[in-house]
Amino acid sequence: MRIDIITIFPKMFEPVLNESMIKRAQHKNKVKIHIHDLRDYSADKHRKVDDRPFGGGSGMLMRPEPIFKAVEKIKSQVTNRKPQVILLCPQGKTLNQKTAKKLAKYKHLILICGHYEGVDERVRQYLVDEEVSIGDYVLTGGELPAMVLVDAVVRLLPGVLGDKNSLNFESFEGNLLEYPHYTRPAKFKNMGVPDILLSGDHKEIEIWRKKTALKRTKERRPDLFSSK
Ligand SMILES: C[S@@+](CC[C@H](N)C(=O)[O-])C[C@H]1O[C@@H](n2cnc3c(N)ncnc32)[C@H](O)[C@@H]1O
Repeated sequence: MRIDIITIFPKMFEPVLNESMIKRAQHKNKVKIHIHDLRDYSADKHRKVDDRPFGGGSGMLMRPEPIFKAVEKIKSQVTNRKPQVILLCPQGKTLNQKTAKKLAKYKHLILICGHYEGVDERVRQYLVDEEVSIGDYVLTGGELPAMVLVDAVVRLLPGVLGDKNSLNFESFEGNLLEYPHYTRPAKFKNMGVPDILLSGDHKEIEIWRKKTALKRTKERRPDLFSSK
């Protein structure tokens, strides 16, 4: 997979992309991530990418030309796959595991990070294939949402996680939350571990895990049972 990220804060990505699982995924050649400074596509001598909204009102908007230019340049460089162009936006469809799985199937994603009051509406109308939100709250910019999306998607790419079983038994698989986990020591400050997990009886452990996953989902996220 190739991911291109268009942002006015390219440095924000360095620490996140160069650590942990995303770093390993890049080293293993499972994903190539390219960060583009939107200001490089500005025709303005001060590298400005924003302007006042028509009709007045508070705040600034991101102008359409630099964003179109950046996306068109990336598309002209990557001709062997059709990209999915995504605008990070609080008005978009909320990201969930199902969407992450869908996005993980694309070979090329282009992510556009908004700022200020957002982007000129023509970007949404004519450039973007889909808008993705990471939740019903408003952040300052699309950089953190883009990082969340990249993390959620990249860990799903085949071969990225060491143990592929960990994807089969995690929250939201089969519309369930995951069962509780314990590790050593078996006794910690007088707090124990369910006996069944220490029994070595794998069949019974599996039944216990299924039961506790159901119970936990019922208590915390009953809405998942009716989601498709
Ligand atoms: C301050 S927000 C703009 C909010 C916009 N005025 C509105 O009310 O819908 C600036 C940028 O941050 C990003 N952003 C903020 N909250 C987000 C969220 N929950 N999910 C995804 N992107 C978000 C988007 O890229 C957005 O263009």
